[in-house]
Amino acid sequence: MRVTVDQSRCQGHALCTMHAPELFDLDGEGHAVVVADPVPGGLDQAAYDAEAGCPEEAITAEPRRPARTGQARS
Ligand code: F3S
Repeated sequence: MRVTVDQSRCQGHALCTMHAPELFDLDGEGHAVVVADPVPGGLDQAAYDAEAGCPEEAITAEPRRPARTGQARS
């Protein structure tokens, strides 16, 4: 899988570097940059967590997280 950062949205909140330090770092201006592309095996969940945790919705993880089935437990 891959993650990307939309630099026009990133405001430097740095939550991504806390959720997934293996995947993101900050550049000299405090904006996130991807440091592992493609995402190494085993870090898919970290990528999704970083995507969900960015308050600016600047991160995109692909392929998209599988949708929950919504099946009710009986
Ligand atoms: Fe930027 Fe979002 Fe990370 S604003 S620094 S991509 S948490």
